[in-house]
Amino acid sequence: MDCYGVIGHPIKHSVSPAMHNAAFRAMGINAVYASFDVKPEDLKKAIEGAKALGIKGLNVTIPHKEEVLKLVNPDELASKIGAANTLKFDKDISAYNTDAYGALKALESAGVGVSGKTVLIIGAGGAARAIAFALVDRGATVAVTNRTEDRGIKLAQDVRKYGDCIFISTTELEKLKFDILINATPVGMSGYMPGKLPVDGQLIKEGVVVFDTVYNPMETALIKLAKMRGCKVVYGIDMLVYQGVKAFEIWTGLTPPFDVMKRAALNALEDTTR
Ligand SMILES: NC(=O)c1ccc[n+]([C@@H]2O[C@H](COP(=O)([O-])OP(=O)(O)OC[C@H]3O[C@@H](n4cnc5c(N)ncnc54)[C@H](OP(=O)(O)O)[C@@H]3O)[C@@H](O)[C@H]2O)c1
Repeated sequence: MDCYGVIGHPIKHSVSPAMHNAAFRAMGINAVYASFDVKPEDLKKAIEGAKALGIKGLNVTIPHKEEVLKLVNPDELASKIGAANTLKFDKDISAYNTDAYGALKALESAGVGVSGKTVLIIGAGGAARAIAFALVDRGATVAVTNRTEDRGIKLAQDVRKYGDCIFISTTELEKLKFDILINATPVGMSGYMPGKLPVDGQLIKEGVVVFDTVYNPMETALIKLAKMRGCKVVYGIDMLVYQGVKAFEIWTGLTPPFDVMKRAALNALEDTTR
């Protein structure tokens, strides 16, 4: 039996085991996916141990996505982003960032093209970085805003080497004309700041596409407001499932059923909030 998993700290609320095990079952693949709580000081030992044990692939989540790059061979996109969330163990350990793919695919499956569009990203952490690099790569103009300005300015500078990207202060946002707004902060997330908006609600105007990367709950305050204003919305759960689909493809060379994985993820989320 082939073994896969996810490492993070904390990890107990991860829905990745439910998603991947459902895909393995649906496809009749003799494999199992488990979660491993790995503290930052144990990351190197965990990666070496996984290789020694013959584990085929790992997802990597908070807080290891950046640190893991020192221990593996990242592809070009993961190197640019400076973070990886998927490892494949062969002779070497290859590393990929499938969050970027997940975000683009979630937009695409909602019928939203990004080329030539101006996209406002709220946040400058790991998710925002992955999304910003992916968007400029597809010909979008990106504006980044962040609570901690220095971090947002650094992200904009890094991305500008590859495409159009500016930093905009939260106090200047009403001056910006944008087509797509993406929340890449945890604001609105259950257990963190449920019911809160990551930006002034006045910015959510009819005609803007609103993508909330927060997936728990699925209907965040931002998504609810966007729907009320008649905006097209893109759900974080779709990004989550598509990043899993891509990781599965990297490991097995096979495309898993999106709907099966999404159902499993939603059921697992219901269990964690019960
Ligand atoms: N759907 C998916 O597949 C998926 C994948 C990854 C992440 N996500 C979502 O994205 C969120 C961010 O993940 P991450 O990995 O980027 O985290 P991260 O690296 O810790 O970055 C968090 C970002 O959110 C900002 N932030 C946090 N609390 C805030 C607050 N109260 N007000 C304003 N800004 C705040 C931070 O600003 P500062 O720089 O000022 O601290 C930072 O820019 C997650 O919570 C998750 O909901 C979704």
